[in-house]
Amino acid sequence: MSINAICTVGPNGKPCGGGEEKGKNVTGVINLSQPEGGETTISWKIEGLVPGPHGFHIHEFADFSNGCMSAGPHYNPHGKTHGAQCDEERHVGDLGNVEANADGVAEGSVTDKLIQLSGDFSVVGRSFMVHADVDDLGKGGHDLSKTTGNAGARLACGEIKLV
Ligand code: CU
Ligand code: ZN
Repeated sequence: MSINAICTVGPNGKPCGGGEEKGKNVTGVINLSQPEGGETTISWKIEGLVPGPHGFHIHEFADFSNGCMSAGPHYNPHGKTHGAQCDEERHVGDLGNVEANADGVAEGSVTDKLIQLSGDFSVVGRSFMVHADVDDLGKGGHDLSKTTGNAGARLACGEIKLV
């Protein structure tokens, strides 16, 4: 028995970060599956991106009342510093980057030991976020590296729902 969840991401109607909306056409679907007692597999297909890497995270809330801006910070129930998915010191929501090809499509999958689909630290009811810029994985030396990876505007977001 696995628990399965899905998340459809889109711009949610409002420009990000106060500026002009950069990701009007960014949409995608993310599937999550966790076998009982096992690691969660996350697979994604996101379209409409500028080719290259884009920060990819789980944020705390599925509140899109102010577009993707109101989804809050990276999901971080253990009070850690931002990092790479493979780091010990990372937010639960830190999944690094997705890589868009020349057609603007990012497709891939990863397994993760911190992301849970049940229990006290479940990500169900939270949100996925796709960013305009690369996540520097906490190592960029920017003021925002240790909180957001300096990944820039929020292009697309959506709620994680059980299926
Ligand atoms: Cu993010
Ligand atoms: Zn983070």
